Amino acid sequence: MNKEALTNIDDLVRHWLTTLDDIIPQLIEDMVTTTKRNRFDLVTNVDKSIQQNFEDFLHEHFPEHQLFAEEKSNEEVNAYQGHVWVMDPIDGTTNLVKQQEDYCIMLGYFIDGEPTLSYIYDYPHRKLYKAIKGQGAYINNQPLSQPEDLKLEDAIISFNTLVMNDATIHELNSASFGYRFIGSCGLDSTRVFLGQFGAHVNTNPKPWDIAAQFLFAKELGLKMTTLDNTDLDFAKAGPFIISNKACHDEVLKILNANTGYQK
Ligand code: IPD
Ligand code: CA
Ligand code: CA
Repeated sequence: MNKEALTNIDDLVRHWLTTLDDIIPQLIEDMVTTTKRNRFDLVTNVDKSIQQNFEDFLHEHFPEHQLFAEEKSNEEVNAYQGHVWVMDPIDGTTNLVKQQEDYCIMLGYFIDGEPTLSYIYDYPHRKLYKAIKGQGAYINNQPLSQPEDLKLEDAIISFNTLVMNDATIHELNSASFGYRFIGSCGLDSTRVFLGQFGAHVNTNPKPWDIAAQFLFAKELGLKMTTLDNTDLDFAKAGPFIISNKACHDEVLKILNANTGYQK
């Protein structure tokens, strides 16, 4: 795809994202929460409406593009062929419901499986993270630079303690500078983009939790792999780490000792 065509898509998507500022407040005011697999697995009208709204946007502007998203069946989608948008309409739904803060909207655009455009919109703080293939990553249109090397002993790391065994939690805590966990895979990842966290680990993400991060990792010189240090498949997902390159191997070494995590 040429630069002009890509810029056109970027302009339209960024405009679509600004329209959310007008609709989200009312959706939150009318919030209806339901559960999916269990009482902790939440979905709201906010998630559903944002996804529907983006689906309508695609139909209008790019009818040949496919949508691979959390709140729909994706059986008919071939994620590796053609123009595919992977969407998490709200990442951090628990935070939205319980705190009205620390959630985001995530979009990853792939052409024949190649990450081409990515967006993570931290709506409560009005911060838009964007990556464009070959052109870098941005926050609110300001270029982001590659984070400096962070050794594990100097790094804050982020993971869900509920799925780690005690010995692993203890080892990670003593090898790193400290621990923080936001509870939104997208926002925990943005901290790694900015060099605020050394690494974020999620042992059971779905494609929409990690699709957008591929391009940011590429453009910012970060490592994004499975927990076995192999390549990740964006359409299958599974246990993953996004990390500053200076602490990636050490985090994995600890995680893989003592069968340290559950999926
Ligand atoms: C969840 C959040 C959470 C992560 C879970 C995800 P959701 O996404 O990103 O931080 O630990 O694995 O499922 O359900 O809020 O979209
Ligand atoms: Ca999610
Ligand atoms: Ca979600």
